[in-house]
Amino acid sequence: MPTPASIDAIKALTEWWGDMGVEVDDAAVKAYLKVADSAAPPAAVAQDAPVRRPRRKKTDWVEEAKIAAAACDSVEALKAAIVAFEGSPLKSASENTVVYDGTPGASLMVIGEGPGAEEDRKGLPFVGKAGQLLDKMLAAIHRDRTENAFITNVNYWRPPANRNPEAEELAVCRPFVDRMVELVAPKVIIAAGGVPAKSLLDSADGIMRLRGTEHVFKTAGGFTAPLIPILHPAYLLRRPQDKSRAWRDLLLGEQRLGELGG
Ligand code: URA
Repeated sequence: MPTPASIDAIKALTEWWGDMGVEVDDAAVKAYLKVADSAAPPAAVAQDAPVRRPRRKKTDWVEEAKIAAAACDSVEALKAAIVAFEGSPLKSASENTVVYDGTPGASLMVIGEGPGAEEDRKGLPFVGKAGQLLDKMLAAIHRDRTENAFITNVNYWRPPANRNPEAEELAVCRPFVDRMVELVAPKVIIAAGGVPAKSLLDSADGIMRLRGTEHVFKTAGGFTAPLIPILHPAYLLRRPQDKSRAWRDLLLGEQRLGELGG
């Protein structure tokens, strides 16, 4: 028969399970404790005692990403940590983890939305049609991924049917994105498209509102850099009449790089 001390221990244990994200059948626990409190033999309800089904809390993966990212002191180590990370629901359906391309240490960092089909196949960001346009846009401001630009995304795995990444999918990548920015330490960041612009600036505004001006991006570790949102090259392929807007934003980026010695 349970003693008051063992009842207290059961209460503490089931509370702890709950805190750890284990599903606890509260009704079964209460029924058990009621029987135990009234000193009746618990055997009849003991069979129904706490149902323990291991379940990960959503935030666990964000915490794991934070720990893994913080442990990395180089871009290469960070890439390896992202490739080893199992916390994105998108990973199992992807062919590759797409982390970055370009020159670590470049003063210009471009951050896009995430891999599409071509990027997933090749394991590199911005290598499809939109990527080819991005390369031309960068060339217009004397930037090339092989020399003086670094390219990455806010999400490292291709979403099904190229849908936008969801909040939870972005959240698990974010500690890695922040750490990547800290390690590359760019003078200027270009956010290519509404998804990275909104996510990095934590803004509800769309790209048409965010573009045209400079914002400040701050990582969790406190590194700051000017962030200039531009229209996504895939959008520009569909609406070439908006290229002049992107051109103005690129010129703003080039001007800021000049001012900041990049
Ligand atoms: N679009 C993006 O935003 N990123 C890529 O890597 C490719 C296409």
